[in-house]
Amino acid sequence: MKRLDGKSALITGSARGIGKAFAEAYIREGATVAIADINMAQAEATASELGASAYAVHMDVTDQASIDAAIQAVEARCGGLDILINNAALFDLAPIVEITRASYEKLFSINVSGTLFTMQAAARSMIKAGKGGKIINMASQAGRRGEALVAVYCATKAAVISLTQSAGLDLIKHGINVNAIAPGVVDGEHWDGVDALFAKHEGLQPGEKKKSVGEAVPFGRMGRAEDLTGMAIFLASPEADYIVAQTYNVDGGNWMS
Ligand SMILES: NC(=O)c1ccc[n+]([C@@H]2O[C@H](COP(=O)([O-])OP(=O)(O)OC[C@H]3O[C@@H](n4cnc5c(N)ncnc54)[C@H](O)[C@@H]3O)[C@@H](O)[C@H]2O)c1
Repeated sequence: MKRLDGKSALITGSARGIGKAFAEAYIREGATVAIADINMAQAEATASELGASAYAVHMDVTDQASIDAAIQAVEARCGGLDILINNAALFDLAPIVEITRASYEKLFSINVSGTLFTMQAAARSMIKAGKGGKIINMASQAGRRGEALVAVYCATKAAVISLTQSAGLDLIKHGINVNAIAPGVVDGEHWDGVDALFAKHEGLQPGEKKKSVGEAVPFGRMGRAEDLTGMAIFLASPEADYIVAQTYNVDGGNWMS
């Protein structure tokens, strides 16, 4: 018996990166997964790559109508929603004196409002169905401390940890477990962009920041998306029924060092 047999999952921002690895892992464990992303072309390509248990859904987590439509699409396709991963997010960095309102508003709108209102829509659907559910929010080591150049992103991820605590406490009475995963540094297209931003602001060569952050991880390298899938499966499985409002570091020891 697979661990997520017959479950219906929606993963925001799963057209690429960590979300895509989660989708692949969930499908291996027997779930059907909505590849929900603002980039519909990439979502469709990912869904066809992952096979018949994946389907693409257009979703912009900053738009309430789009959130509601995505949840309805999952209900229509699978008869309900059992698991949500709030994974879509955006990164930016700038010294405090250079932060723009536009960047601040965009990051909070995707990373915080997007997480809250997608969680709300999923919870409403799960409560209506009366079978409980699992919600997993993507936090970050950035949510556990400030970083000189990363004030806004760090603040959004601290908010995700806090929302996970409050929603976890409120929704457990409906049998809905809300927990979060805090990765450290995970290689992929996302970190290519982060590396380029650090290169600009710290006067580094391309690739230099990636190399140094990877070497600083106690495990000895940057994370890979696959390093996170075990925790994502566990938190979505019945083995995690008694786990409420927690955020787990999966970071090769980075936060501890
Ligand atoms: N990569 C890392 O080092 C790292 C570290 C800690 C935490 N995280 C977190 O893990 C999660 C996944 O990160 P990743 O590295 O795979 O990111 P990524 O940038 O590779 O993927 C993000 C996905 O979200 C989608 N997206 C962007 N805006 C959206 C919107 N408004 N609505 C719907 N989808 C939207 C993008 O199209 C993309 O497919 C994020 O929450 C990120 O903050 C990543």
